[in-house]
Amino acid sequence: MKVVKSTNELLAWRNQVKKNRVIGFVPTMGALHAGHLSLVKSSIENSDITIVSIFVNPKQFSANEDFDTYPRNLEKDLDSLDAVGVDVVFIPKHEDIYNKNIQEFSFVHPLTKILEGRARPHFFPGVINVVSRLFNIVNPNVAYFGKKDAQQLLIIEKMVQLGGYPIKIVRGETVREPNGLAMSSRNQYLSAGAKERAACLNLSLVIAENMLDGGETRVEKIKKEMFEVINKDESVSIGYVSILCLNTLVEVNNRVNGPILISIAVVLEGVRLIDNIFYDSISNPMSTL
Ligand code: PAJ
Repeated sequence: MKVVKSTNELLAWRNQVKKNRVIGFVPTMGALHAGHLSLVKSSIENSDITIVSIFVNPKQFSANEDFDTYPRNLEKDLDSLDAVGVDVVFIPKHEDIYNKNIQEFSFVHPLTKILEGRARPHFFPGVINVVSRLFNIVNPNVAYFGKKDAQQLLIIEKMVQLGGYPIKIVRGETVREPNGLAMSSRNQYLSAGAKERAACLNLSLVIAENMLDGGETRVEKIKKEMFEVINKDESVSIGYVSILCLNTLVEVNNRVNGPILISIAVVLEGVRLIDNIFYDSISNPMSTL
């Protein structure tokens, strides 16, 4: 496994890769867990060369967030990536990314303003900035993003479309703990008890899915049940419960009548947790998209 620590070195390596090679790319902020590794494994299975980047991007953290304390575990990350057979790990420094020679792309879309965008206004502009720069450096054919961060995934898909990037975006399934809690680097901040209690997020989504499977389409009813499940635990405070139309990317207020994204954000022990499911009630009621 090649470990590349500067943009110049990455560009030099990239230049000598044969044109017909399929390059798969998995951008990460490190502290890797099985969710990250599932994206990496899909890339390895479906590409000729897999590149993983590890960069904790300051621009997607606000001043009062956890940039300084964000989990960093480079040695362990490198071991995990080597073990699954990654070809190149790119670990840029700040000046490699935020460099005037590297082009960034920016755009404004209503999707960047809602849900996580409302609670954390700096977040999506920061993600778009770094991912566009990473795309311009790595120049991959395929890039892998997790459904766990569904809004981020949809925004990157928009960015690729608006920016005309010749990159295919692959959606990776959310990997969960045995109790249903979606894996996240920030789960490390939770006590063992909170990790158990956080299972209510996934439970509320499973209940919503069951209601939809049973033919319930009223958003109000579905949300009411979800709120009830989450509110059972007083230590969990709800940020939002949202049902988004995947065709229009706007909130569904009345009845579900097409593919949707149900997403939730809560705060537990001061840690913001998000989870979601993709659901298509028409084409395939029992499966996620
Ligand atoms: P990070 O949180 O490290 O996540 C990197 C990728 O792993 C993202 O595409 C994310 O959706 C995916 N991922 C995280 N948890 C997952 C899980 N439980 N199952 C499946 N996939 C999961 O997301 C970021 O970093 C950053 O915003 C980044 C895109 C790298 C830009 O800085």
